[in-house]
Amino acid sequence: MQTYQSYKNIPSLAGICTMRDAMKAGLSVEECVTRLKRCHYAFKRLHQILTARLTAEPIYELKMAFSLHAHYCAEHVTALRKRVGEMREPPLGLDAIPDTHLEIFFDEILAAPTTEELLLGIYEKALPALKGALAVHMQDTNRLADHPSVRICKFALLEVNEMIDFGKKTIEQLIDEDARHEHAAWLNLLDDCLNAAGRLSGTAQPGTARLQPGNSVQRRQSVQPYKPNFFPKRDKRFPDPYNMAVNAEVFLYDEKFPPAPKTLMMFYKRLREIDVPEMMASIIAETPGKPWAYYADMTRQLWDEARHAMMGEVGFVALGIDWQKVMVNFTWSMALNTQLKPIERHAVLYYIEQGLMPKNGKRFEWEVGLASHNPLSALFQDYDWADEVLHARIGRDWYLKEFDDPKKAVQYGDECWSKVLMGWETWREKGLTQHRNWWPDLYKEACANWNIEPDPEILAYNTSYQTVRADLKNFSASA
Ligand SMILES: [Fe+2]
Ligand SMILES: [Fe+2]
Ligand SMILES: [Fe+2]
Repeated sequence: MQTYQSYKNIPSLAGICTMRDAMKAGLSVEECVTRLKRCHYAFKRLHQILTARLTAEPIYELKMAFSLHAHYCAEHVTALRKRVGEMREPPLGLDAIPDTHLEIFFDEILAAPTTEELLLGIYEKALPALKGALAVHMQDTNRLADHPSVRICKFALLEVNEMIDFGKKTIEQLIDEDARHEHAAWLNLLDDCLNAAGRLSGTAQPGTARLQPGNSVQRRQSVQPYKPNFFPKRDKRFPDPYNMAVNAEVFLYDEKFPPAPKTLMMFYKRLREIDVPEMMASIIAETPGKPWAYYADMTRQLWDEARHAMMGEVGFVALGIDWQKVMVNFTWSMALNTQLKPIERHAVLYYIEQGLMPKNGKRFEWEVGLASHNPLSALFQDYDWADEVLHARIGRDWYLKEFDDPKKAVQYGDECWSKVLMGWETWREKGLTQHRNWWPDLYKEACANWNIEPDPEILAYNTSYQTVRADLKNFSASA
């Protein structure tokens, strides 16, 4: 070996590792698969936790990050499943729980009673443990023989590090030492789980001073099976979540209005898309037993919808407008999550999204963006349209297949939407909202930024969702 040389000293072994690295014993296929399955399990449980918790998480930035991180985790689950499938492994056993202590570990985080504990569990315990397991795999395996796994671990680490970094910066702002101290016993319990499992990789000696080998950890928060809460919650920047006073679609499709103020309505529509992740999370969590590709596709879409909401946020920020003055409601996700079964929610989603494809849908919004000379509006609508085409495909793949006749699938979606009760008047009577028309204030603020005088006719716009829903059909069941 001392004398071995590659041709003209160019990197040997395609540059993936040194000759010495390639000679080490590494992991057997069996050991490799066992370890990859533990990482797979961790990503799957993190995906489940993030999805289950995002609807009732009030802080908007966390809701958005949970959407992204759920998508990341779903993608790594897909990659790891594929890799395990390449390793002479039928039956794959990917649904088996690799270690009961890991099960308790993730069950405890899933059931964390507060946002603080949830953040500490995910970002200070689970993800760092996963990072450790991925790094140990790369370190221990033969990088030539097991290169496909190394590649998967390498890419996974990129996003695991990004998630940890987000968590660190968030925890620094939200959780002080006192609060952390309050949760010390529970955080110790999480450590005990990992130690009893021989860490996430299963390669460490099991047991700690607190926990001798053979003793199992006592559950604290997950004694009862966790019941997710799909009643959406929002933070203080959403002061009037039942407000349905401004019908964006009626304005958008009214030819007498010019494109520039329509961009405000489109930014509002985009920001309001936060309700789609809130709703899709409940479909994903409450639809068991589908092939993994279903969850991966649905979670990709969930993330896209969160991204569209943030495009709306950016649109307002770019115009110097405080979006807290825009009443972004949660009535759609709340009504669907509380009134419909998961398949009925999916039906409504499909119905709405296939309705976005004709000429007056997404293309129209993009054209309005172009005509408005607001380049951000045009750009965001361009991508919003492309994403919605993908979502229509996801709907065809996973929802439409439940029906023999596509027309019936669409009709069912319309029926499901029609049976949703929007308590427009009831909410007002109960004092949940006054349905205040916030449009004139928003429009005036934008005009001040544009240095123009408000147009009296645009300023006077006052059409709500009381009788006309977003697809311009009448609410048949509006209370
Ligand atoms: Fe959407
Ligand atoms: Fe969208
Ligand atoms: Fe969509």
